[in-house]
Amino acid sequence: MKKIVVLISGSGTNLQAIMDACQSGKINGKIVSVISNKADAYGLTRAKNAKIPTALFERKNFANNLEMDRAIAQHIEQLEADLVVLAGYMKILSDEFTLQFVGKILNIHPSLLPKYKGLHTYQQALDAGDTEHGTTVHFVTPELDSGAIILQAKVPIFPEDDIADIEERVKAQEIQIYPLVVKWFASDRLKEKEGKAYLDGKLLPENGYANE
Ligand code: GRF
Repeated sequence: MKKIVVLISGSGTNLQAIMDACQSGKINGKIVSVISNKADAYGLTRAKNAKIPTALFERKNFANNLEMDRAIAQHIEQLEADLVVLAGYMKILSDEFTLQFVGKILNIHPSLLPKYKGLHTYQQALDAGDTEHGTTVHFVTPELDSGAIILQAKVPIFPEDDIADIEERVKAQEIQIYPLVVKWFASDRLKEKEGKAYLDGKLLPENGYANE
């Protein structure tokens, strides 16, 4: 069974979906720590309710970002985690951190990457007049939101939509696709090699597994 750590900063709906999938045995894994950089992240409460250990790393307690990342990395190494899952962790990780765990870090980003990297993706999609939006699970590399894409899910944008409408639709997809990708990783079906993602030994297309 794979040991998983999940990094969060907020509400933790993706965390909840992954916890539930581990609990029910869909994912052959165990969450050994939920790590947050925010003391008031609701995801910490979710973890505590599920009796999963939590760890808080606040920026104010470290001299700089790198020192903080090194402390988190040490915590992860001590636990001998096999997989690092970023689930709404709203702080950019240092290159040193991402390289230390290369091939073992996943992220979910609320856009159809490579479109709309970084923040405010919903606003960007609305401003551009897009008729669809979505979410992407990808491997993490030092360059923000740029690692190999594993799986995407698309949702429509209707003319009367506001950000909350689109976000709700995207999040409904996220809680389906993120546990699925973690499941693939935990059962050794998903690998990263030289910046590319492979499922069952087959190179995944640029936009990830074709799930339509
Ligand atoms: C998700 O929408 C994810 O795409 C983004 O941050 C959000 C986290 O939401 N990276 P939650 O904390 O899982 O509810």
